[in-house]
Amino acid sequence: MATFTVKIAGSERSFSVRDDETLLEGALRQGVMLPYSCKNGTCGSCKGTVLSGSVNYPHHPAQALEPGDAEVGLALLCQAVPCSDLVLEVREIEAVRDIPVLKLPARVAEKSLLADNVVKLVLKLPRAQRLQFLAGQYIDILLPEGKRRAFSIASSPAREGEIELHVRHVEGGGFTGWVFHEMEPRAILRLEGPLGTFFVRHDEPKRPMIMMGGGTGFAPLKSMIEDLLAHGDTRPLHLFWGARTQEELYQEDLIEQWVAEHDHITYTSAVSDQCDERPQKGFAGFVHEAVLHAYDDLTTHDVYMSGPPAMIDAARHAFVEHGCREDRLFYDSFEFGSDVPVSILAKPH
Ligand code: FES
Repeated sequence: MATFTVKIAGSERSFSVRDDETLLEGALRQGVMLPYSCKNGTCGSCKGTVLSGSVNYPHHPAQALEPGDAEVGLALLCQAVPCSDLVLEVREIEAVRDIPVLKLPARVAEKSLLADNVVKLVLKLPRAQRLQFLAGQYIDILLPEGKRRAFSIASSPAREGEIELHVRHVEGGGFTGWVFHEMEPRAILRLEGPLGTFFVRHDEPKRPMIMMGGGTGFAPLKSMIEDLLAHGDTRPLHLFWGARTQEELYQEDLIEQWVAEHDHITYTSAVSDQCDERPQKGFAGFVHEAVLHAYDDLTTHDVYMSGPPAMIDAARHAFVEHGCREDRLFYDSFEFGSDVPVSILAKPH
């Protein structure tokens, strides 16, 4: 097995990467925090530029690379494996560097239905353990055979000792089917986290924020908003939340309470399923279209968005075309992953 050295351009930092791991895996293993979200090559948040050396993609094609990206040296760090020593141009994420990533058991303290296809889980953490995280980050639930399933944390870090997850049912059984139909309260799950680099930036001058969620992409935004409110942050915040039907916007009473109590918060919902013939409360169409309907020019905003890759991809391109700075566009992109066996998950007791 060969090991290569990766140097980050413009910094003193370097790390080693084996030829059987990705650049991101090597970096995280040594506490070097690079931007990432999906870890499966679809979202593009881990893009970096290879200034010297070469990489290849033995596991999955680099789906999120666009035509012309490879020619200018851009690489997907969550998929790229080194073929030589490298010099990389990439932003290091300082804020999460010192937060330990833990593997913990957690007990299901509450399971309740938020919508027909979304369940809220409250997981109690072991008494002696504290899960430090930044609002917006996610955890992996560890499953048999080394599989894992990612869920954003929906509660704010101030809620110590427990975390809230919003789990959307994925058709075809597997983990989410088990959660919906079989999992008993007090079941024990194993989790790893916190993960990801999706969190609110606080650099000065503070800019107004647009937050945009699709479906259960609301979860990390809820954590962020609760955290901002807890810290008295009053920069203007416009939340957009979209789903196929009105029923899938499952916690609007909470949002209405934020809007009623805080002048700096605005809310717009978006429902895309035009077959729904009842009068629409919010915007009729996709949620990123609702954002552009309200803001033709995004040059002065920070944008935070969370949802499935197709939504993030469409929004990313459209927002940049409307003036959004790429370095002020932060996103968390998640697939509703394929089903996995659950037969040897920890049993309820
Ligand atoms: Fe690498 Fe999403 S494409 S983290």
